[in-house]
Amino acid sequence: MQRPFHMTLHSALVVSAVTWVAANVGGCTHRGEDEAQTARVRLVFKHGKIAGRPDALRGLLDRFEASTPGVEVVETSLPSDSDEQHRFYVINLEGGASEFDVMALDVIWISEFARAGWIRPLDALLSEDARSDFFPGTLDAVTFEGRAYAVPWFADAGVLYARRDLLAEIGAEPPRTWAELRNAARRIRDLHPELHGFVWQGKQYEGLVCNALEYIWGSGGDVIDEGRVVLDSSTNEIALQTMRGWIEEGLTPPSVTTMTEEPARHVFQAGRAAFMRNWPYAYTLLQQEGSAVRDKVVVTRLPAATLGGWHLAVNADTRHPELAERFVRFMTSAEAAKTLALSFGYQPARRSVYDDAEIRANSAFIPGLPDILGAARPRPVTPYYLMMSKILQLEFSAAVSGLRPPKVALARAAEALRHLMGEEGPR
Ligand code: GLC
Repeated sequence: MQRPFHMTLHSALVVSAVTWVAANVGGCTHRGEDEAQTARVRLVFKHGKIAGRPDALRGLLDRFEASTPGVEVVETSLPSDSDEQHRFYVINLEGGASEFDVMALDVIWISEFARAGWIRPLDALLSEDARSDFFPGTLDAVTFEGRAYAVPWFADAGVLYARRDLLAEIGAEPPRTWAELRNAARRIRDLHPELHGFVWQGKQYEGLVCNALEYIWGSGGDVIDEGRVVLDSSTNEIALQTMRGWIEEGLTPPSVTTMTEEPARHVFQAGRAAFMRNWPYAYTLLQQEGSAVRDKVVVTRLPAATLGGWHLAVNADTRHPELAERFVRFMTSAEAAKTLALSFGYQPARRSVYDDAEIRANSAFIPGLPDILGAARPRPVTPYYLMMSKILQLEFSAAVSGLRPPKVALARAAEALRHLMGEEGPR
């Protein structure tokens, strides 16, 4: 199968200039019609590690197998870290791997994989009618040059977890601004010096970019505006200083600079922190039996939320394109979304599922989440997002860990981004 040429960095982000013939994608895949009727076919589904009950996923796969005779679905998981999964896919798909058929992709990779010709267009699965149920941000992320390359599986948005009991002790409402959060964390720490004030994701990886964008956007700043890099602003400097300030003031442990989602959740779930920034999946686990914070947590809006999520795509080199599509249709149905929400706290990308009575009655249901998801801001949708992110990860990490003042880190990142985007000279 023909692979697209590699573009130079200079033309990066000039999405309209990309000449990729969509017809090339999946051009060699129309084989094996009616595979379900013949010998037993093995369909391999790859996804990131799922915290919680693996049996619930197996239950879903069993349901698919029962409805599609002759098919065996094998699921294999990758590490939960988004960057590590990305590395796996780039290496394997670049090498034309066909031993997995369906993949759960982070929102930020879909246009990159589509442009590279690694995933099949899936327009047939996203008719006009089907589209209206999904959050608009999730649809933008799966669309590349007017075609759908993945189907939204679940949606994510950064949220704030707060200990209801500790807020009550200081007589405070859940904080709505970074200043209110700092104030509440300080007061709780005065009463409970053994607790951390606030834990979040500060490791040098994609999650740090999601966290930092919430400070940047929440302060009215941005990274790129109308195609221009606007990262090196005084607003953004204050935003990064606020992040660094948590550690400097001792409200966040220095180990946050090594934390991804799960380590932060473990600290919070053990009852060792007053506040946590994380994705909604954590709530189901915090509410589990045996959790030290069960029924003690309130989930609220951050000053700004980054939109995340994972969507299902089909390997362009799959030997079972039709079965793979059928599987994606099943796994992204309202029925599957409900199981995923109840078992793992994966938030449905379909709005209608939030009206389901069983979902609303579940102890891990987060009221107001559809509004938070609807208002969450996507990271730039471009095939070059990962290149941008690597630049941001390096400099945000330097600022958060105190290696460089925020102003210097932002200036360095802005310069590298301008170079990547081919912008000339200072603004
Ligand atoms: C979550 C989000 C994803 C994001 C990742 C960063 O998995 O859904 O979009 O990139 O966290 O760690």
